Amino acid sequence: MSNKSFYITTPIYYPSGKPHMGHAYSSIIADIFARFKRNDNFNVFFLTGTDEHGLKIQREAEKNSKDPKLFCDELSSKFKELTNILHLSNDDFIRTTEERHFKSVIDIWTKLEESKDIYLSKYKGWYSVSDEAYYDEDEIENKNNIKYSKISGSKVEWVEEESYFFKLSSWQDKLLKFYNDNPKFILPLSRRNEVVNFVKKGLKDLSVSRTSFNWGIPVPTNSKHLIYVWLDALTNYLSALNYPNTKDEKYKRFWPANIHIIGKDILRFHAIYWPAFLMAANIPLPHRIYGHGWILSDDKKMSKSLGNILDPIEIINNFGVDQLRYYLSKEVSLGNDGNISFKNLTNCINNDLANNYGNLCQRVFAFINKNCDSKIPSLNKIEKEDKKLNEEIVKSISDLRNLIDNQELNQYLKKVINISFNANKYFNDQKPWSLKDKDPDRMNTILYTILNQIRSISVLLNPIIPIATEKVLKTLSIEKANINLESLKNTEELKPGIKLKKTDILFKKIENDN
Ligand code: ME8
Ligand code: MG
Repeated sequence: MSNKSFYITTPIYYPSGKPHMGHAYSSIIADIFARFKRNDNFNVFFLTGTDEHGLKIQREAEKNSKDPKLFCDELSSKFKELTNILHLSNDDFIRTTEERHFKSVIDIWTKLEESKDIYLSKYKGWYSVSDEAYYDEDEIENKNNIKYSKISGSKVEWVEEESYFFKLSSWQDKLLKFYNDNPKFILPLSRRNEVVNFVKKGLKDLSVSRTSFNWGIPVPTNSKHLIYVWLDALTNYLSALNYPNTKDEKYKRFWPANIHIIGKDILRFHAIYWPAFLMAANIPLPHRIYGHGWILSDDKKMSKSLGNILDPIEIINNFGVDQLRYYLSKEVSLGNDGNISFKNLTNCINNDLANNYGNLCQRVFAFINKNCDSKIPSLNKIEKEDKKLNEEIVKSISDLRNLIDNQELNQYLKKVINISFNANKYFNDQKPWSLKDKDPDRMNTILYTILNQIRSISVLLNPIIPIATEKVLKTLSIEKANINLESLKNTEELKPGIKLKKTDILFKKIENDN
């Protein structure tokens, strides 16, 4: 097994309703990075799961007249099903109602108490149950006598109760120093600036317990209090590695996490609270927090309360899972908000998948089946054009790797699509069909070169469209376990004489009504 390790997480989602496109988006993005790293010989641990405690869930369960645990069981299983539907390669699925997670939350709490970072006082202020977040007076606005958070737009309610506080204020300078020493801790950079400015304005101590409901993990030394659901939830990233057993192989191998993929709505929790909790508990900090933008529907963030939810399962049933994965990674700019539309989805499937990559594979395979007895042709004398095409891929490997390591997913895809475009052009320009009788050796070399291009493009697209690329690679006798980025450096990896396996159609063109 490789000794390079890579730990990547999605947010753990509230099972307060069915999963929607926003949840699918974060999970798909994280899966793409996880898959890329696996193909690049990293030992990957990819975690997702559900965040099941707190007042938000308790109220939702009550509304449905259900016991909160049973309520969570039902909805958490929908999120788990979605991991299969989206074709996620997650290694674990954590639920915060699991025993393994309790142990780790209790341990963190105890460490924070021991380090004197927690004290008992009284909280008086605004709380959004929907965000499970405390807001300051200047973050609140009044509309028709109802108070809302200016930041999220969700309703807030007044809370006044005894509460434990975490001494967040005492970590302000250490956080600023940490951001400064680790300029890529928060990406994209616009998000980083947002956080730095917020912290510079001054941090107040954070209420980390509640007393007015009962669905959560009790404070070990005072069972009247429940641990704040965000302190509970963030700890999941450690629980899945068997923390607090720091001698555990998983913990030793994978902590600190390489990257937490999150939406920008939960940046404050991940980029400020989480590192402060970890510093106080004397646990190493994750390397990166990437806060992606929102998928908008009718120009608004999708949310249950707005009733503008797009259902990923419906879209997958109509268009296919590779198609959705490709569309979201190509057409939504990762760091920014993006509207999605059926028209764009259809164009993207037709232009990039059906006409470009799909068509290249189908044409070349059909030609070889007809003219070369379905066998991988021989590689004979290599000409300048063949060499150029191969070199283009070999040269771009390190660039592509860099793009992924900086989460420049859209740039990555652009580059790969360009490679595919050039391969199509090569096939058209070289006209292997005109050489059948005249120069079969040359025809074979062209076909071999193009098959190597198809192999390379498939490996590069594999993290994004795993189903189609695995079919194509299987046609070339490359099994899933052998999909490997380094192998692209060997342009003579395919074995002449081996029969192409049968492939069915890769991407159906979508009829466009417009
Ligand atoms: O916040 N566009 O859970 P949550 C893009 N349990 N991404 C979206 C989105 C949208 N319209 N809507 C949601 C929580 N997301 C906490 C997290 S982590 C320790 C605890 C994605 O169910 C995005 O990743 O509200 C966002 O951060 C996450 O879902 C919030 O999911
Ligand atoms: Mg939310």
